[in-house]
Amino acid sequence: MTHLHLIAGARPNFMKIAPLIREIQKYPEQISYSLIHTGQHYDSAMSDVFFKELGIPDPDEHLDCGGGSHGEQTAKIMVAYENLALKDRPDFVVVVGDVNSTLACSIVAKKLNIKVVHIEAGLRSGDREMPEEINRLVTDAISDLYFVTEEAGRDHLLREGQSEDIIHYVGHVMVDNLFFQVAKLEKGDELVPISSDYKSKHEKYGVITLHRPSNVDEPETFQDLAEALKKISKDLPLVFPVHPRTRQKMEEFGIDLGERVTLLDPQGYMEFLNLWKDAVVVLTDSGGLQEETTALGIPCLTLRENTERPVTVSEGTNQLMGVDVVKILAAASKIIEGTTKEGKCPKFWDGKASERIVAAILASL
Ligand code: UD1
Repeated sequence: MTHLHLIAGARPNFMKIAPLIREIQKYPEQISYSLIHTGQHYDSAMSDVFFKELGIPDPDEHLDCGGGSHGEQTAKIMVAYENLALKDRPDFVVVVGDVNSTLACSIVAKKLNIKVVHIEAGLRSGDREMPEEINRLVTDAISDLYFVTEEAGRDHLLREGQSEDIIHYVGHVMVDNLFFQVAKLEKGDELVPISSDYKSKHEKYGVITLHRPSNVDEPETFQDLAEALKKISKDLPLVFPVHPRTRQKMEEFGIDLGERVTLLDPQGYMEFLNLWKDAVVVLTDSGGLQEETTALGIPCLTLRENTERPVTVSEGTNQLMGVDVVKILAAASKIIEGTTKEGKCPKFWDGKASERIVAAILASL
């Protein structure tokens, strides 16, 4: 029996872990697992609601390491996770994405000679001021098995000296989850109550998400973006579920988005999916949403200078805007007028990435 630790800590991890667990549960004779929640995200709206809606079992261990600076948070997770890993000694530690929990647990595991599996490996923005880029580089320097979501991931890993036979291009577990949840939503699953409050009042609308430090921690940048969003909202009402730290910064900088931008608390996965899947446009600095909009063919304007997910631009519906107000307004007007960039779903973004990953883990034993 092979024992895995599955690490989840922050909101963008939970939707990637859900389909993996469903797949692992098909092999009870070969694989056992423990789900470890680091506690990086701790508000109920950032964590608990995802477990409930995505059908993720309760974590086997909760490390309660929320809050603090990057160094503090990473260190707290490392200390707590080392205690657990020493006790439990899994065969593999599976980490997803690029958050601080990913970094902390992969370093601990590797130093205990436990094999590290990195899912969503090889992505690079080229921007080392972005905390996630450091997390990606370090995790990918020490992992033992890599699963990539797009060809660029494989290229980066090869260039950084990883060998071809441990890199698997499998598609995207987040897309597995997305298709699974869209099907549930369309069936009108009564376990997923959707309020649709905003939708019932707005026939056409756009959706905003913003939380990157480079956008919301800089008062001038945030003011510029707010100006652009306010102008777009004159032609198209916008709805904005606000991340807790973005909310803090809005208050601190006195950001006013005007009456046609509706601010909401962070939404659960289903409520949010129900909103953006029918949006005219999504304006975001999120990583995952660039990919999810490509998977469903929804126009996406990314409010960043770079993306670590280039396939969403070369093949999908995503366009990179930077924080250039003129560019953002021009692109948004075109979409509102109905001239949208055509996109297609990248290879292997077909809902079967988890199957490929678990098959490859079993084959590697
Ligand atoms: C983290 C990830 C980022 C991801 C984002 C999604 C890193 C480096 N960043 O950023 O890649 O896109 O999650 O949400 O890991 N806070 C709360 N409640 C919570 C969580 C956070 O109030 O449940 C506030 C706290 O002030 C906290 C701050 O947000 O200190 C930052 O949280 P943190 O987890 O460090 O980073 P995110 O900005 O959420």
